[in-house]
Amino acid sequence: MRHLNPAPKGPFVNDTHPPAPGGRTTLPGGKEVSRLGIGCWPIGGPAENLGMPMGWSTARDSRSLDGLARAFELGANLFDTADVYGHGHSERLLGAFLTGVPRHQVAVTSKVGYFSGSNGNAYDPAHMRVQLEKTLTNLGTDHLDVYALHNANFGPEDVYLNMAVETMRTFQAEGLIKAVGMRGPHRYAPERLVPAGTAREDKHARFRRHFAIVRPDILAIRDNLLTPRDATAGIRAFADERNVPVIINKALGQGLLTGKHAPSRAPAYGAGDHRSRKRWFTEPALRILQQHLDALRERFGHEQTDLVHTSLRYLLQRWPAAVVLTGFTSAAQVEQNLSTPSTPLTPEDLAYLAIAGRRAQEALDADGEVFTDESA
Ligand SMILES: NC(=O)c1ccc[n+]([C@@H]2O[C@H](COP(=O)([O-])OP(=O)(O)OC[C@H]3O[C@@H](n4cnc5c(N)ncnc54)[C@H](OP(=O)(O)O)[C@@H]3O)[C@@H](O)[C@H]2O)c1
Repeated sequence: MRHLNPAPKGPFVNDTHPPAPGGRTTLPGGKEVSRLGIGCWPIGGPAENLGMPMGWSTARDSRSLDGLARAFELGANLFDTADVYGHGHSERLLGAFLTGVPRHQVAVTSKVGYFSGSNGNAYDPAHMRVQLEKTLTNLGTDHLDVYALHNANFGPEDVYLNMAVETMRTFQAEGLIKAVGMRGPHRYAPERLVPAGTAREDKHARFRRHFAIVRPDILAIRDNLLTPRDATAGIRAFADERNVPVIINKALGQGLLTGKHAPSRAPAYGAGDHRSRKRWFTEPALRILQQHLDALRERFGHEQTDLVHTSLRYLLQRWPAAVVLTGFTSAAQVEQNLSTPSTPLTPEDLAYLAIAGRRAQEALDADGEVFTDESA
């Protein structure tokens, strides 16, 4: 992971702007950003892709716009979206917000790779250009600070991989994007990703093979207290060795780590919400999670804010130069997330969290598969 030089005065930092939430880091391309960044997947709203729900049913546009404005007021200046988040809806809302702020004061990251339209694969170069042009139009901007390869499906035998990389680098040379990103493997534990009796390739090996060809400027990695620690230790070492900057996603376990879902009130999500497929949002899993969150409450406090801030401080400290994204569906959530103190946790607190997180994740995994409609 690339470490920061002492923060210079960046383009957005001025005497009137509030301190950057979580501190500051520098993106490839040189823009200075807040380390707590804003995930814009939820504000895309309900959606389906590849025959599955992949959106959020809890977002409302007016609240989303309030949240974006509040985030900027509070000093957050990195906003992450993708073409497929609400099939352009997230980008368009972000674009509406961007009309009111100086473009050079914010970093905008987007992605391509899950929507293939009428092409065989989303990484067909002509299709990628159409998608990027649409993304720029939706956002009302002439460039992205990061454009990422969102999906690891590069077709049979990765036939689209080299073309995709070449296309991204062409976009970069044209000044349309400042940096190329790619995502890490979902879980960096190959044994869990290759169920016995299936022909699925080890995602760990596949990720390394793709990484060697893409040579991304930045990596997007899932991490939170419920991610297997061994998995992220592997990807952390990998990023460190290659000196590649990192953006962390799903910091709050998509709401689970806020402790707001009591087992007796398991959320009932509407159509197009991917969480309706996830076992961890159902009553039996929430019952297990509750016990483990109680162990956190005992040590860190009983308010929801205490859990939220503990999760985010843990990640800010584990990934000392990374951007940590949190998605939102209201300005109140944005305020709570961005008010996370930057003060470090003690080594004892970190050790406690590592153990508590591991116990929670192992108990949830032991109870059943992650998706309610998949057994692999
Ligand atoms: N590069 C990649 O491949 C990739 C993959 C996944 C995500 N991402 C990015 O990472 C971002 C963050 O991940 P995420 O949005 O999936 O998950 P997340 O940040 O863990 O959770 C976001 C959701 O949790 C709930 N929430 C957030 N703050 C809260 C608070 N203070 N109190 C109560 N509830 C709160 C909200 O949902 P409800 O109000 O509905 O409960 C919110 O939409 C995404 O938005 C996206 O931009 C990137």
